Amino acid sequence: MEKVVLAYSGGLDTSVAIKWLNQKYNMKVITLTVDLGQKINLDEVKERAEKLGVEKAYVWDLKEEFVEEFILPALKANALYEGTYPLSTALSRPLIAKYLVKVAKENNAKYVAHGCTGKGNDQVRFDIAVKSLAPDLEVIAPVREWNFTREEEIEYAIENNIPVPVTRENPYSIDENLWGRSIEGGILEDPWLEPPEDIFLWTKIKPNLPPRYMEISFEEGVPVGLDGEVMSPIKIIETINRVAGEYGIGRVDHIENRLVGIKTREIYEVPAALVLIKAHSAIESLVHHRELSHFKRIIEEKYSQIIYYGLWFDPLREALQSFIEKTQERVTGKVRVKFDYGNFSIVGKYSPYSLYDYDLATYDKKSTFSNELAVGFIKIFGLPSYLYAKKSDKNNFC
Ligand code: ARG
Repeated sequence: MEKVVLAYSGGLDTSVAIKWLNQKYNMKVITLTVDLGQKINLDEVKERAEKLGVEKAYVWDLKEEFVEEFILPALKANALYEGTYPLSTALSRPLIAKYLVKVAKENNAKYVAHGCTGKGNDQVRFDIAVKSLAPDLEVIAPVREWNFTREEEIEYAIENNIPVPVTRENPYSIDENLWGRSIEGGILEDPWLEPPEDIFLWTKIKPNLPPRYMEISFEEGVPVGLDGEVMSPIKIIETINRVAGEYGIGRVDHIENRLVGIKTREIYEVPAALVLIKAHSAIESLVHHRELSHFKRIIEEKYSQIIYYGLWFDPLREALQSFIEKTQERVTGKVRVKFDYGNFSIVGKYSPYSLYDYDLATYDKKSTFSNELAVGFIKIFGLPSYLYAKKSDKNNFC
C-alpha cells in the first residue's frame, strides 16, 4: 500500500479526507498538524486522527519558525497584497508544505495531500510549494476531487464513523494563525452587507478604555522590544494582537483578486500585522533616502504579489528578499503608537540613523540650506519641461 501525508486541521473536511484517501486511493494515511498560533490543542487533534485509523499522526508547534522564517521576512517588506491584506494565510502555506515534504521523505511516501478546494489560492500555494521542494512528490487534493455537497459529505462522515460537529453549523470558512484571522463565506458573500459583529474574535472592542500609547523597538527591521522591555517577536505579536484588538483595531474588509481569477470578499482581523507594518515603515521613512524609499515600494508590491501567488520558494522571491534584507541594515530605532477606538497612529519615531536633519528642514531659524543653489538646481532639473514648452510655440517654426 502506498502512503500519503495529509495536512490535517482536525476539521470535518480533512477528517473525511482520511477515510476517502483510504477508500478511493487505497492508501495508508499519515497526518501532519502544525500549530502556527491558531489556538489549537495538538494532543486532541492527534487523538482524533488516531481514532480515524491513521498510520501515524505528527503534530508540531512551528510558531517560532513561522515567525522567524516567514512573518519577519514579510514584515521587512511591509508585505500587503493589494495594499491591504498582510498575507497571514498565504505565508503559512509554504511552511506547512515544507513539513509535508519532510514527513513524506522520512516515511518514504510518494504522495502528499491537502484539504483545499478548487476555487481558492491555497491549493495553488500548496501544490507549487510541494513541487518546488520535491518535484518527485505527487499532490492529491480530495476536496477538489470529491464533489460532495455539504449534505453528502456529512452522510459520508456518518457512514464512516467520523465525528460530525454537533453544534449549529458555522457558515464561515476561517483560517487563523499568529499573523491574522481570515473569515469568508456565509452572509459575507454579499459585499453590500455589513459583516455581523459575531464573526469577530480578535477585535472586539472593550468599553471605557482610555487612549493608550505603546513604544515598539526595532533592530535591523525586526521588532525586539515593547515599552522598553526586550521581548521575542512572537511575544510582541501576541501582545499587540491582544492590546490593539481591545481597541477594535485591525479589521479589514477586502474585495480581493484571487489568483484563479475570482473576486472574493474576505474579512481579516490583523491587529499586530497592521500596527507592526506601519511602525516598521515609519522607521524606514527616517532612514531610507528618497530613491531607496520609492524603489522599495515597487519591490514590496511585487514581493507581496508573489507570496499571494504561492511562489515563496521561487528564485524571484529569494532575489527580492536579498534586496529587502540589504535595505534593513539601518532600520533600527523606536516608534510610539497611540491606540484609540478603532484606530491607531504613529505619533513619534526615532532612529540613530535618521536622515531627518532639523537644521536643513526648519523654517524657524537661519538654515544652512542654500536657497541660491536651489535656483540653479531648478533651472537644470526643469530643463526638459522648459525645452518642451518652447517647442509648442508655433511662431518658432522655421
Ligand atoms: N483570501 C486569503 C488568501 O488567499 C485567505 C484564504 C483563506 N481564508 C479562509 N477564510 N479560509 O490568502
